[in-house]
Amino acid sequence: MKVREDDIEKLLNSLKIVDVVSEVVELKKSGANYKGLCPFHSDTSPSFTVSPQKNIAKCFSCGAGGNPISFYSQYHKIGFTEACVELSKKYNIDIHYDKKNNNQEEKEFEKLYKLMEEARDYFSNNIFDNQGKEAFEYLSNRGLTAQFIKENYIGFSYNSWDKLLNDFTQKGYTLEDLLNVGLIKKGDKGYYDTFRNRIMFPITNASGKTIAFGGRTLEDRKDIAKYLNSSDTVLFNKRKNLYGFKEKGTFIRKKNYSILMEGYMDVLKAHSFGFDTAIASLGTAFTSEQGELLKRYSSNVIIAYDMDDAGQKAVERTGLILKEHGFNIRVIHFEDAKDPDEYLNKFGKDKFLERVKESKEIFDFLLEYYSREYDLSNLIGKQNFVLAFKPFFSVLEKDIEKALYLGKLAGNLDIDKSFLEKELIENNKKEKNKYNSFDENKIVIFEKKSNNFQINSLEEESLKLSLVSKEFLDFFAEKDIESSFVKKIIKILKDESMLKSHNYATSIMENSSLDEDEKELVLIYLTSSMTLEERKKEELNNHLFKDWFRLEIENSMNYAKEVKNPMFHYKLKLMLEKLKNENEFVKNLYIDFKNLVKEEANERVY
Ligand code: GTP
Ligand code: MN
Repeated sequence: MKVREDDIEKLLNSLKIVDVVSEVVELKKSGANYKGLCPFHSDTSPSFTVSPQKNIAKCFSCGAGGNPISFYSQYHKIGFTEACVELSKKYNIDIHYDKKNNNQEEKEFEKLYKLMEEARDYFSNNIFDNQGKEAFEYLSNRGLTAQFIKENYIGFSYNSWDKLLNDFTQKGYTLEDLLNVGLIKKGDKGYYDTFRNRIMFPITNASGKTIAFGGRTLEDRKDIAKYLNSSDTVLFNKRKNLYGFKEKGTFIRKKNYSILMEGYMDVLKAHSFGFDTAIASLGTAFTSEQGELLKRYSSNVIIAYDMDDAGQKAVERTGLILKEHGFNIRVIHFEDAKDPDEYLNKFGKDKFLERVKESKEIFDFLLEYYSREYDLSNLIGKQNFVLAFKPFFSVLEKDIEKALYLGKLAGNLDIDKSFLEKELIENNKKEKNKYNSFDENKIVIFEKKSNNFQINSLEEESLKLSLVSKEFLDFFAEKDIESSFVKKIIKILKDESMLKSHNYATSIMENSSLDEDEKELVLIYLTSSMTLEERKKEELNNHLFKDWFRLEIENSMNYAKEVKNPMFHYKLKLMLEKLKNENEFVKNLYIDFKNLVKEEANERVY
């Protein structure tokens, strides 16, 4: 059994040493630390010290201690992996571990990480040679020193269609490797380098490994994208990673805050001025997954977005996501500069620190933001102003926050507090997560006996929908149906629907090949289907589509395992994850899935 390195990192980031130790040792607060009697030797005065900041524990008398995982394994006298597994279950932290030794997959990943590291060094060298001169000068002009460029592996991709491709295949990497990490692409005329003539910013994961690149063009042209980022790969998911994590996020943990910016250049410039907790999302709006990641390092965040309308609008949106994750949020305002990069260039470090100090609490920011948007001199404007706060209040978890913010709003508006309470708290409960096919307690496959017919509920629900939706009937008829009864009905329905487009389902009641029991069952289904509202039909359609899709992926995963193809398996796993989180564009994902399977089949043939 083995736990992946990323997951160990994740565990260490999520587990709090105080929680883990206080399971077995009574702790008392002592300054920034906690103290208790050492569980590893017979202790009389509390010499076992726990540091929440460093997330470790240590006995100053016998020297024992460690991080949450090693402490747990020493205390319970179990192996490291076992400790990981137990802790992940206990604290509900999702990690992957395979009973089987997953050596093959691991080797495959190590190879890809190494490839990315080599690519990082390759780009980094390029910027210091003759062809990279323009890129180097561009960055110098924007205030980055040679040393900074080198230390941060900022690089350059040559203006060539296949230089990287050739250089790296010569090193022994295959086209598939290069495709897998997104360094090359496949076009009509063959393979070519993804990044050409761009400044290359390595993107790392939380443990510091290079997993992707952002490439900035040197040209000031409207017809090409300013930035080109690696597409999502087996190593990289732009929604789940953050740009600019330095030293595995230790700076953020130590200083206990991060500064969230919009652009790569903003982050780099901030780092170069010593603001080493600056981070950014990766070319998309800030996501909930990124909030979850960031929360493991610190619950305090300062937003320093661009000063234009789009940037300020994004503060509102990002603030909501961060609040949903329970962050304390402040917002920076820059005068006479459009973004952090420009502000630092113009005014320097000390002024930037002043801006940090004067940053506004998110609610104060919203108060100002919405007062500019709504006209508070009339009743309608006031009403809309209040309603604008609804999303914000709906994500608040703590009662104390609700009370504080409500008080603030009431004070600002001269409106009866009980009215606000009704609008923003009572009638503003967060909508429960919609029914999710992946909820383990909910349908998917379980056996059910009705009238001596064994039907699993996925097939049962699919049958019901097929009775009222011809489109779904066509979809369902192509699946591997297990129940012989369902199979029979579907076949009849298909025949009937070929003849009539209307009421193909009702004519089934006259079908002579069905016995009385079967007819009775069909009638029951028919009655429940006929009463489905259009909206419910749509919903059911989507859920069932997802369920069948999920089965298909799982089958393919089993196949990938059988033929020992870890990359294929992993890509499928990523799709399954995406499917679980995706609510709308499942159809596109399905097309991707079909393409992936087709590609894989082609490769097998050659
Ligand atoms: P400079 O313009 O060089 O100062 O870069 P910046 O990092 O400040 O970029 P900007 O503020 O214009 O955009 C913020 C972020 O949005 C960038 O860092 C990118 O992550 C992303 N972005 C900007 N333009 C593009 C684009 O054309 N394509 C993609 N995919 N992302 C972009
Ligand atoms: Mn910029």
